[in-house]
Amino acid sequence: MEAIILVGGFGTRLRPLTLTVPKPLLPLANIPMVERMIRNLPEIFDTAILAVNYGLNDMRKYFEGRDIGKKVIIVPEEEPLGTGGAMRNCIDYVTGTTAVFNGDVVSSINLNEMLEQHIKTKAKGTLALWKVKDPSRFGVVEFSNGEILQFQEKPEKGSELSNLINAGTYLLELEILEMIPPNQKISIERDIYPKVAGNGLHGFPFEGYFIDSGTPESYLEANFKSIGNNGTASHTGASIRGSVMIHEDAKLEHCIIGPNVIIGPKVKLEKCVIRNSVILSNVNSYGAVIEDSIIGPNIQVKNDIKQNLISPEGKIAF
Ligand code: GTP
Repeated sequence: MEAIILVGGFGTRLRPLTLTVPKPLLPLANIPMVERMIRNLPEIFDTAILAVNYGLNDMRKYFEGRDIGKKVIIVPEEEPLGTGGAMRNCIDYVTGTTAVFNGDVVSSINLNEMLEQHIKTKAKGTLALWKVKDPSRFGVVEFSNGEILQFQEKPEKGSELSNLINAGTYLLELEILEMIPPNQKISIERDIYPKVAGNGLHGFPFEGYFIDSGTPESYLEANFKSIGNNGTASHTGASIRGSVMIHEDAKLEHCIIGPNVIIGPKVKLEKCVIRNSVILSNVNSYGAVIEDSIIGPNIQVKNDIKQNLISPEGKIAF
């Protein structure tokens, strides 16, 4: 069974970081987002199809000769085709029921259960649904007896049909992919799903966590969640506080690290204090206090930093 992963977006909300590293190759707890997603696919999936526009060469280079336990097919788009156009562009590699993922979603969804439901209900499509407190910033669905009846974009307070939003994870029959006109820019959410609503489009609400890791704040949150049980409990060069992950190729001396810190490869820190931050590869610092920030790759930090994203192409406060 194949899984299509949409990894072709520009990642504008994470600029300037994504000018250097395409979002799908940004690490979550030291493993690129897209690789983590492929590794987490249930056993039933033997192939991951990556729909790529922006970052194509970097993606090809990363996956060339790398064994991550599944067959990986990279499908390029000459122009960005949007979420729907991108999945239609992969149709030649799909053999039947397909899973489609937004490449930046980190969630606790149980895909096997979702697949069981999809098969049992004979749905044309099943969309993972996530409950939010305030749906006014999102597209919500009218959901009844397991079926999605209609979509509502950014509803005004009091008029919302539900508080369930599309969580960017789908199981689709080929007939839905075939509905998408080829070689055109199409949004699956806006142009296709509303046409199938009320006619075989089902929902799979789930609980736990759901993070769209596309903004600096949510990228940090997704990283901290991804440490899971694989954190670093102790280190000769640092006093560790709470949940922390330190890459084995990082060199630390007399540092205080944590809570919620990820340190990437080739990082060199001496007498630094780091809290709630992601330090990407090859960052150097002596004596800095870094809090609530994303730094790197290849950056020398000379001053204290709080709530900043600092990348080789520039920095932003967030
Ligand atoms: P922003 O520019 O910050 O909004 O990020 P983004 O470009 O990733 O857009 P968004 O988060 O809305 O996209 C959701 C998912 O679809 C992401 O995994 C994107 O990589 C992917 N995506 C968006 N547009 C395209 C596209 O035109 N082609 C492909 N292949 N993927 C896309």
